[in-house]
Amino acid sequence: MTLFISILAYVIGSFPTALIVGRVFFNIDIREHGSNNPGATNTLRVLGKRAAIFVLLVDVGKGALAASLPFLFHIDMNPLYPGLIAVIGHCFPVFAGFRGGKAIATTAGALLVTNIWLFFITYITFILVIMITKYVFFGSISVGIVLLLYSIMEAGSENDILFIIFLLLLIFLHRTNIRNFINHQEPKINDKNLAKD
Ligand code: G3P
Repeated sequence: MTLFISILAYVIGSFPTALIVGRVFFNIDIREHGSNNPGATNTLRVLGKRAAIFVLLVDVGKGALAASLPFLFHIDMNPLYPGLIAVIGHCFPVFAGFRGGKAIATTAGALLVTNIWLFFITYITFILVIMITKYVFFGSISVGIVLLLYSIMEAGSENDILFIIFLLLLIFLHRTNIRNFINHQEPKINDKNLAKD
């Protein structure tokens, strides 16, 4: 049953929301535009606010649904695990050639169900970092840092290694943003100039 939940969580996470919205409503592949990332941030840049809000809500919903699976199937399993498996599905989706998003929205959904206070702490930090720096990717990486700090401060946490891997994954997924930033090519949240992946 644990394997079934894990596979289901991965399949849920693999649903390529931004790709489908781009193809169905705008007849474009979002991965060929803006930062090339099939996520809510790039949807906002390329397709506008309404499409971005829709993508954001569905991608958050994927994480929330996956984290709810143990409850829905009456399984004794830490909901964080299927939540994070959905995040892996979102980043490396089987339905989109394993070219997915950068984890942030789906992680929000998983946390919302798993630990609502941690969700607020993490995503208020995310918003504050973006407001201060104007770079979304700094906010995104701060999500991984806050989760790791929380895990370390929580005495006897079994999730330290998990969150170290998660932070490394975030850095890997944002490698192009980091490179663009170093080369002064990373767009700020309010910029019209877009860097390519
Ligand atoms: O959550 C995605 C964000 O961290 C980066 O998106 O499109 O600027 O690469 P993007």
